[in-house]
Amino acid sequence: MSEKTSRLPGFYKLTLEERLKKVAEFANLTDEEVNMLKKEGNLSLDIAQRMIENVIGTMAYPFAVAVNFLINNKDYLIPMVLEEPSVVAAASNAARVMRKWGGIHTTSTGPVMIGQIQLVNVEDPFGAKMTILEHKDEIIKIANEQDPILVKLGGGAKDVEVRVIDSPKGPMVITHLIVDVRDAMGANAVNTMCEKVAPLIERITGGRVYLRIISNLADKRLVRARVKVDKNDIGGEEVVDGIVMAWAFAAADPYRAATHNKGILNGVIAVALATAQDHRAIEAGAHAYAAKTGRYLPLTVWEKDKDGNLVGTLEMPMAVGIVGGATRVHPVARIALKILGVKTATELAEIMGAVGLAQNFAALRALATEGIQRGHMKLHARNLAMQAGATGELVDKIVEIMVREGKIRYDRAVELVEEFKKKGKL
Ligand code: MEV
Repeated sequence: MSEKTSRLPGFYKLTLEERLKKVAEFANLTDEEVNMLKKEGNLSLDIAQRMIENVIGTMAYPFAVAVNFLINNKDYLIPMVLEEPSVVAAASNAARVMRKWGGIHTTSTGPVMIGQIQLVNVEDPFGAKMTILEHKDEIIKIANEQDPILVKLGGGAKDVEVRVIDSPKGPMVITHLIVDVRDAMGANAVNTMCEKVAPLIERITGGRVYLRIISNLADKRLVRARVKVDKNDIGGEEVVDGIVMAWAFAAADPYRAATHNKGILNGVIAVALATAQDHRAIEAGAHAYAAKTGRYLPLTVWEKDKDGNLVGTLEMPMAVGIVGGATRVHPVARIALKILGVKTATELAEIMGAVGLAQNFAALRALATEGIQRGHMKLHARNLAMQAGATGELVDKIVEIMVREGKIRYDRAVELVEEFKKKGKL
């Protein structure tokens, strides 16, 4: 039997130091590793511990800014946090060729989320459905009593929809509470409302409520983006055709559509991380929306217009907030919002949709022409050179040599660093 145990009662009650000590013992962490975890960056350990449980440190990621974005005739700098090379550069390049004709144009359906209340054990599900709908005003009243501030701001529960679904456990009556969450992501407000409304639903139907929770298929909170790209700015009509062909591939094949949508999410989630959004909610919503017809489809469409120019459009759910949650707690997220200069959650959502469209264009353009590896490999080479211990100008020198030789490998980077060391250049 292993002497190590992960059963650590009361771990959460320990101080950070004490927790760290236990983890260090468990995993044989060196003093240097322990100090690395404890090192405070722009998120203090104090705030980190107020955000989640069992904290033993923080972890920094690169925070970058994509340039050139013109959205609805307004210039934006886009904060992005992610670990993948090429994404920020690709977004900036895409945004540059998208500046003509007012840049990227966006609209949205407004900050409306759905809360679900699952009712079972009713013999007459369709009768129950009608009963619930008859009590719509009462349901909305109870829901809105939970959040007077939201209501004062013009938000709150607005409508009730009821669906009878067939499940492996028989019919279920699913009530949807339709809530305008204004500038919040909305999960807290919606979940509270669902929990408070549930007893009434049980009482009037005689059934049993189980789940009371927000739906991440936020199809009442859609962002839409449109852009036209001049064929002459991207290498002519042949490139336009290549991009349209790449989209058609995704529209016909879920294996490709998943990767196509991943490219969109590269941009969307990088902004989500910079602004401390619930990015899992955005991803879940994106994929569920992509599969809404029963087939998994790309979230963008690429077409050629009558003049041979490229037209791209995107439609996807975007549940983001600028009040509440980590957006306000994380000091860097607040700065990211300031860089963006957004005044509402809807504006943020639309920007993220625009970034997704630009990111998708960049990927398809590269894939349909030279492929993505050339650009990627250069950045990959940079990472390898740095991992091998190169700093400053030496990084560029080693990258240049590895790219020229076509040997972009860690062992070669180490060799080169050694060589430069011997020459006394390090
Ligand atoms: C890589 O992170 C994203 C791409 O695979 C997206 C795509 O294939 O469209 C390049």
